[in-house]
Amino acid sequence: MADGPGMIAAVGDLGAWAELRNALVGRTSGRLTDIMGALGTLPKEDRRAAGQLANATKVAIEEQLETRRAELAGAARTVALDDPTMPARQSWRGSVHPVSLVIDEVCEIFRQLGFTIALGPEAESEWYNFLALNFPADHPAMELHDTLYLEFGGLLRTHTSPVQIRTLQQYPPPIRILAPGNVYRRDFFDATHSPMFAQVEGLAVDEGITFGDLKATLTHFAHRFYGASRRTRFRPSFFPFTEPSAEMDVEVDLGDGRGVRWIEIMGCGLVHPAVLESAGVDGEKYTGWAFGMGPARIAQSRYGIADCRLMFDSDVRFLGQFAR
Ligand code: PHE
Repeated sequence: MADGPGMIAAVGDLGAWAELRNALVGRTSGRLTDIMGALGTLPKEDRRAAGQLANATKVAIEEQLETRRAELAGAARTVALDDPTMPARQSWRGSVHPVSLVIDEVCEIFRQLGFTIALGPEAESEWYNFLALNFPADHPAMELHDTLYLEFGGLLRTHTSPVQIRTLQQYPPPIRILAPGNVYRRDFFDATHSPMFAQVEGLAVDEGITFGDLKATLTHFAHRFYGASRRTRFRPSFFPFTEPSAEMDVEVDLGDGRGVRWIEIMGCGLVHPAVLESAGVDGEKYTGWAFGMGPARIAQSRYGIADCRLMFDSDVRFLGQFAR
């Protein structure tokens, strides 16, 4: 190390800088540290002047050291930034949740058929959720063990069908709406159940609507969504608010090694005249059809997801697979 003035400025990196600092003004040893420690051996009359000189030297050295340290640190940063071989910083891109992907795609397919979006509240009254939908007042779905009731009255909607009533009350037919939203049921959280899940409701009301319209529209949807060659079927079912009622299945391969099988994708039917009447719509003049589907279940059938809990866990390793 070249001794003398300029030696601090000549230090080339932070490692050499630390060595030099220790050699000069290290806490326990170092050339200046040693000199200051030896001040006591000087004759009394010389100590004061020597001490002042030593202190001034120390301040000057430390200033120079600090100036050089800042220069070296800045240079190290610049080198890091300029080095094209440095690994790139990991960039995080969000992905759309599979349930949202399904909702968006369902809405888009029906939007092209002239449907618009309608929304309703998640906290509902018993009337909108059940009674206006033709549930008899003693229907088991209204029991406490099936429905989550709110402390100060009302309940958490158990399906998106109350949006049918709210829409019919607000707009005169013809009506074609899709109502996506969350619904709540007193269910355990397991591979096939969740106490909260999304639904998409569909409703078409006009003069002269038949079950043929329902079948044609929903089959068109299934072919757009799953592929034109997929088989679909309607099975008779029951809902208080539709008559006749059906369940629609599509034949899919979940990719779990069990091959193709029928998956239920929605409930549907012709709107019960009592439902139209309770919303103030003339049930003689108008007819309609409706459906309700669960996008989480549809996402499972679409992407081969065996356990629905994956869709509630927010695990980025799972969600990242849907990044596009
Ligand atoms: N609301 C029904 C359910 O939650 C689904 C449905 C909607 C069925 C509209 C028929 C018509 O299961």
